[in-house]
Amino acid sequence: MSIRLLPETLVNQIAAGEVIERPASAAKELIENAIDAGATRIEIATAGGGKSLIRISDNGSGMDASDLELAVKRHCTSKISETLSDIRTLGFRGEALPSIGSVAKLSIASRRAGSSEGAEVTVHGGKLTPVRPAAVNPGTVVEVRDLFFATPARLKFLKTERAEAGAITEVVKRMAIAFPKIRFVLSGPDRSTLEFPATGDDHLARMAQVLGADFRDNAIEIDAGREDVGLTGFVGLPTFNRGNSAHQYAFVNGRPVQDKLILSAIRGAYAETIPQGRYPVAVLAITLDPDLVDVNVHPAKSDVRFRDPGLVRGLIVGAIRQVLAREGDRAATTGADGLMRAFRPGFYPRGAGSTAPWTADSSPYRPFGGGSVNGFGDRPQADFTSGAQAGFSERGQAGFAGLDTPAARTESFASNDAGAPILVETQKFPLGAARAQLHENYIVAQTEGGLVIVDQHAAHERLVFEAMRKALHDRRLPSQVLLIPEIVDLPEEDCDRLMVHAEAFENLGLAVERFGPGAVAVRETPAMLGEVDAQALVRQLADEIAEWDTADGLAGKLEHIAATMACHGSVRSGRRLKPEEMNALLRQMEATPGSGQCNHGRPTYIEIKLGDIERLFGRS
Ligand SMILES: Nc1ncnc2c1ncn2[C@@H]1O[C@H](COP(=O)(O)OP(=O)(O)OP(=O)(O)O)[C@@H](O)[C@H]1O
Ligand SMILES: [Mg+2]
Repeated sequence: MSIRLLPETLVNQIAAGEVIERPASAAKELIENAIDAGATRIEIATAGGGKSLIRISDNGSGMDASDLELAVKRHCTSKISETLSDIRTLGFRGEALPSIGSVAKLSIASRRAGSSEGAEVTVHGGKLTPVRPAAVNPGTVVEVRDLFFATPARLKFLKTERAEAGAITEVVKRMAIAFPKIRFVLSGPDRSTLEFPATGDDHLARMAQVLGADFRDNAIEIDAGREDVGLTGFVGLPTFNRGNSAHQYAFVNGRPVQDKLILSAIRGAYAETIPQGRYPVAVLAITLDPDLVDVNVHPAKSDVRFRDPGLVRGLIVGAIRQVLAREGDRAATTGADGLMRAFRPGFYPRGAGSTAPWTADSSPYRPFGGGSVNGFGDRPQADFTSGAQAGFSERGQAGFAGLDTPAARTESFASNDAGAPILVETQKFPLGAARAQLHENYIVAQTEGGLVIVDQHAAHERLVFEAMRKALHDRRLPSQVLLIPEIVDLPEEDCDRLMVHAEAFENLGLAVERFGPGAVAVRETPAMLGEVDAQALVRQLADEIAEWDTADGLAGKLEHIAATMACHGSVRSGRRLKPEEMNALLRQMEATPGSGQCNHGRPTYIEIKLGDIERLFGRS
C-alpha cells in the first residue's frame, strides 16, 4: 500500500459531504456569502426543490476577476487571516464555493461596485473554466445547477422536491429574521413568491413578516444579561404554541444557529406551561465576546460551543421564566379571536373584517395587562379559602339552589349574613362573581366590565400544579392511602430511574416502592388529584424520566413531575360545583401566578368586555 495525496476534486467532494448536505445547505452558504458581502437585497430562486437550480443574486461588494479565480479555490477566503478566536463574519472556512463546485455545476458572475466590467467563472463537478469577462450588474449572481450530479449517492438520499424546497424556505426565514435590514425575495417554480421587505431596526416587524402578524400580539420582549452575555428577543405566550420546533430561532452574535443547548433551554423554560409535543415560538439573540464562543464546531456552522454553557442556559431559562411569570396570565389572542369570529356571521355581513367591531384596544384577551407579579394589579385579591368568606355565607348559598339546573338565573343570590348585597363586592375581583356553571365545566362569572368564562378543568389542573410546585420546595402534600397497593410492571431500567426520585414523589403525595426487579408498588397517591389511575400516572412518569435531557437541572425535572401529576387529577373536571366552590376557584386563580393558562398552554379563562358584547348586538 502506498500513501498518496488525494486529487483536489476528491478532497472538495469529501468536504462537500459535510458542508453541503442538501440543497438548503447550499442555499444557506450562498446567502451567508451575500450577507458577508454587505448586500442589502438578496434574491433567491429555486427549481426542482433546489436540485435543478439555486440562484442567488445580491447587491453586495462584488468580486473582480482575480477574486473570482480564488473564490472557487479551497481555503481561499477574504474573511479571516490569522486567528479563529475573533470571527465576526458568517463564513470563515473558505470551503463553501469549492465544495459546491465539486458536486454541482456552479457559475458565479460578479462585478465590483465601482468597476466598469464584470467577470464570470464556472466550475462543473470540480472542473474549472478560466475566468472570462461578463456583462453583469454590480454585485454577484451565483447559480448552482444539478446539485450532486457528480455524487449520485448523495442525490439518492434527498427527500422529495417539495420537502427540499420547504427546507430552503426555512433557511431563508431564519436568515430573514436575523437580518431585518436586508430585503429577501424567494421565488421560482418551487413556490409562490415570498417577499420580506427590509424593516430596518424594527426586528419585531420582520418577525411579524416571517412568523405571522399575530406574533406581535402574542410575543413578550426579552432583554436580559448576565455577566458579559446579553440576551434579547421575543418569546411567544405559552398559549401561542406550535406543533414543532421550527418556530424557534436562535442567533449567536448575529449568526443563525440551531444549537441544542439553546433549544433545550427554551424547552426547559416552558416546561411547565406547554404540553409535551407542543413547542413555543421564540426568537432569541445572544451576544457575547467572540472569544467566549467557538463557532468552528461543525462544518455547517450551525452549532456553537460556549465557554460557559451553564451561564448561557441559566440566562435563557431565567429570562424566559421571568417574563412568563409576569405575563403568563395573558392568554393568547387566538382562542378568544375564534370566539369573536364565531359570533360574527350572524351579525355582520361577509367581508366586514375591516370594519370589525372590536379593536385592539378593546381586545378582551388581555385581561389585566400585567404589571404586578400575577397580573392582577392592585385589585383586591383573596387567598384560596377566602372565596366563601368573601362571597357566601350559608344564607347566600341558598340563593344558588337553582344552579342545579345549569340554565338557572342567579340574580338574587347575593346577600351576606347581615343581609347586605355582596354581589357588587365580589364583582370587583378581577375574575368577578360566579353566576352559573354550564356543561358541568364552564363557570360564567360577572365582572365589573364584562364577563369571564372559566374552563374549570384547565384552571384546576393549573392550580394543582402550582400547589405541587410549591410543595417541592416546601412541605409534603397530603396523600391518600390505597387500600390495595397498585403494582405497576415496568422494565427494570424504568424502575431504577423512578426510584431515584422516590423522595420527591413522596413530597407530592405519591408513595412508590420497589416491588421486585421489574415492578413498583404504589401505596399512596396525591390527595389533590382525587381518584387517579396510578398505573397510567407511574408509566407516564417513567417515560418522561427516560426522556429527560441531562441538561435539565434537578429543579426543572421535579417541575416536570409536578406537571405530569397535575394532568392526572380528576377532582373538578366534569363536576358540578357549589357557588362557593366556584368563587373559591376564581379567588385562588387570582392569587396564583400564571393561572391564565393551563399546563398545556391553553387559556384557563377568557374575558369578554361589556363593550364588545354591546357591539356584537349592534348597541354601540
Ligand atoms: N456573494 C459574494 N459577494 C462577494 N464576495 C463573495 C461572495 N461569495 C463569495 N465571495 C468571496 O469568495 C470567498 C470564498 O467564499 P466561500 O463561501 O467559499 O468561503 P467563505 O465564505 O470565506 O468561508 P465559508 O467556507 O466558511 O463559507 C469569500 O471569502 C468572499 O471573499
Ligand atoms: Mg461562505
